Amino acid sequence: MLSKYRWWRDAVIYQVYVRSFLDSTGDGVGDLAGVRAGLPYLKKLGVDGIWLSPFYPSPQHDHGYDVADYRDVDPLFGDLAEFDLLMAAARRLGVKVLLDIVPNHCSSEHPAFRAALDAAPGSAARARFHFADGRGPEGAEPPNNWHAMFGGPAWTRVDDGQWYLHMFTPEQPDWNWRDPEVAADFESTLRFWLDRGVDGFRIDVAAGLFKHPDLPDSDDPEADARTRDSVNPLAWNQPEVHDVWRRWRAVCEEYTARDGRERLLVGEVSVPTAREHALYVRPDELHQAFFFDLLGAPWDADAFRKVISEAMQDIAGTGSTVTWVLNNHDQVRTVTRYGEPATEGSGLGAARARAAALLMLALPGAAYIYQGEELGLPEVVDLPDDVLTDPIFRRTGNRARIRDGCRVPLPWSGQASPFGFTSGVEGAKPWLPQPSYFAEYATDRALADTRSFWHLYRDGLQLRASLPQLGEGELRWLDSAPGVLAFTRGDGVVCAVNFGTAPAPAPVSGSPLLSSGPCPAGVLPGSTAAWWIGDL
Ligand code: NOJ
Repeated sequence: MLSKYRWWRDAVIYQVYVRSFLDSTGDGVGDLAGVRAGLPYLKKLGVDGIWLSPFYPSPQHDHGYDVADYRDVDPLFGDLAEFDLLMAAARRLGVKVLLDIVPNHCSSEHPAFRAALDAAPGSAARARFHFADGRGPEGAEPPNNWHAMFGGPAWTRVDDGQWYLHMFTPEQPDWNWRDPEVAADFESTLRFWLDRGVDGFRIDVAAGLFKHPDLPDSDDPEADARTRDSVNPLAWNQPEVHDVWRRWRAVCEEYTARDGRERLLVGEVSVPTAREHALYVRPDELHQAFFFDLLGAPWDADAFRKVISEAMQDIAGTGSTVTWVLNNHDQVRTVTRYGEPATEGSGLGAARARAAALLMLALPGAAYIYQGEELGLPEVVDLPDDVLTDPIFRRTGNRARIRDGCRVPLPWSGQASPFGFTSGVEGAKPWLPQPSYFAEYATDRALADTRSFWHLYRDGLQLRASLPQLGEGELRWLDSAPGVLAFTRGDGVVCAVNFGTAPAPAPVSGSPLLSSGPCPAGVLPGSTAAWWIGDL
């Protein structure tokens, strides 16, 4: 009985970055009909569900993380009828669907913000955002010294002289969650999508929402922009946010009580320590929160062991499970991050990325896979400046080239761009150019080659689903050679990763069940991970 309610605890969710997944209209931008067409591919891969990046009406200043209407579909991606078709197809295939909800900020085109601009200082319309008078002569200085995460001041001045707060870009004004209407409106949004059948939400900037009530100056105002992380202790991780997650959890429980289907809240929680992270996943708050420390760890056995141990100790102790992630739409892809030139597909970075995947899939908890990770796509590092669309690039004076290279549209088939990404229209161009070497990574080639990343992920997912030890089974570290991590899961499943480049003795004598590269019995080659079943 219990297991029916706990599907998310060890689920593997595939992140669909909609605009780069599959384009059904030939306009060069992926869409919801494309996602529907790709569902059988994802089912074959063996994931439990998908998380859809924001597809709501938006001027796309931050690719949909600037929402102008939380309860509709942008014509760029389809419409509500297409969304319903996608939900129905996913339901038929048994694939869960999570939406991306963005509660910290909206678009400057959102009607509530337009109304606030039209209203007077001190009005109820302005109270839904953070409007304040400036400092200094004629209020010409911002109300405080905070900088936005994407660079530049966190305040923009409007025509009547007041300023409004935006922790990302000026086109993304922050909601004021101390205004009860904001909370009520978001609850209506949750219900709108839950009524359409979604299985839950990935919550953007889930440690945001509340700011220190006095909006005081910060001792280190540029810390967020410098670290590209939510570290300003006055702007993030305020205690009041936990009440919001309790209320959202109660809404989810209400739906579960009706039909027995448990809805999932998974937060993008970026806070300084695993212990603070654990507060977000207490039993009456979020079900899960991405644990980014694994993604941030260098390719080093001790570093990986430390973050895994901390997560197990602090997060698993809450009754939730750790939510592992190695890639997403904001980060350099593992193949490149772990040390490989982007144009070569079979070197060290690829071997390490394969090993990291097997490690992640062997850990207790849930795992998120970012589209293209299953193809071993490298980061596209040589996009010309004039095609870059990440607001971070422009806001850092064309310096920080961070997030376009992992967002290049997927290659599906063929020898030349658009590699089957766009359909039907002759000469259609993907919204970001695909390099010619994407041909090597196309899904049709990956499916045909049993040595591909795709087969490794598929085999890993199949085994994970069939071995009960890999679900809730306990993790126990084994003694191992320097540079090697080895652990058992539950009774009888062993996983080991060799972070070094020289071969090490394998922890189990027989042949592995699955390995990330060639792995003769008794040996664990460098940059390789393997799973065994058997006695130690
Ligand atoms: C986190 C999202 O992953 C990122 O893409 C976005 O730019 C920021 N939140 C702001 O919404």
